[in-house]
Amino acid sequence: MNRLAKFYASSIGKKFIAAITGLILFGFVAGHVAGNLKVFTGTDSITAEGETFAVPHIDQYGHFLRKAGEPFLPAMAFLWTSRLVLLASVILHMTVVIQLSLKSAEARPVEYVRSKKKASSWSARYMMFSGSVILAFIIFHILHFTTGTIKLGQFEHGAIYKNLRNSFSLWYVSLGYVLVMGLLTSHLFHGVWSLFQTLGFDSPDRNKAIRMFAMVASIGITVGFALVPLAFLFGVLQEVPDYPHHLLENH
Ligand code: HEM
Repeated sequence: MNRLAKFYASSIGKKFIAAITGLILFGFVAGHVAGNLKVFTGTDSITAEGETFAVPHIDQYGHFLRKAGEPFLPAMAFLWTSRLVLLASVILHMTVVIQLSLKSAEARPVEYVRSKKKASSWSARYMMFSGSVILAFIIFHILHFTTGTIKLGQFEHGAIYKNLRNSFSLWYVSLGYVLVMGLLTSHLFHGVWSLFQTLGFDSPDRNKAIRMFAMVASIGITVGFALVPLAFLFGVLQEVPDYPHHLLENH
């Protein structure tokens, strides 16, 4: 077996892969929430053919991500590279955590004696549950807001602000998203905490600070996400008039 295969076969190797892929996914959600909060920063007035239109910042940001790297990279290259890295991270993350939990089930004696062990297996099972819901959410979410296959309110490619508004004006869509964000909070909290342990940063004098960071980061990210549906549902964010989408091309 070569060194890489040996590393993958070991429990510590798998834990390390779970931590690194978890870190990549954490980076993605942190970036995604920062981008989403652009719904609150308003619009730019863009004049074309003698008319002025209000173009939401979030639509411009989405357009920027699709165009990032051009003309040096082919169209959509940055977006597709990021998508492939994310997909590989999700697949690896799930594979190693499932393999780890099967391994620990095999090694487990018939009954636990100590309650501490029971607690840790409860949290591992809970991570499996919340992780599965988040995976199902991601598949649904891409079909909802990226491809527009699942129609919950009118959908138009590239009109991010309008799509968000059309969907989140429906109370059950907003409620569903907010509930999933609740589960995401606990998954992120446990995930960030254990990734610091796996990467060896934990120590009795740092654990309090690490726990605090895990709590602030997980709550901060999910509250940031949840603010968007809530703001549309309660009318804090208003409708923006239509604008011709080719405006984004020249801007
Ligand atoms: C209330 C919370 C959320 C809102 C309002 C939201 C909004 C959006 C929108 C509007 C898009 C489409 C962007 C575009 O067309 O350019 C999108 C894409 C996406 N979102 Fe979210 N999102 C939320 C939470 C999440 C969470 C928690 C995750 C992951 C755990 C996630 C993962 C993704 C992914 C993977 C894509 C596809 C990106 C791509 O390949 O283009 N989102 N989101």
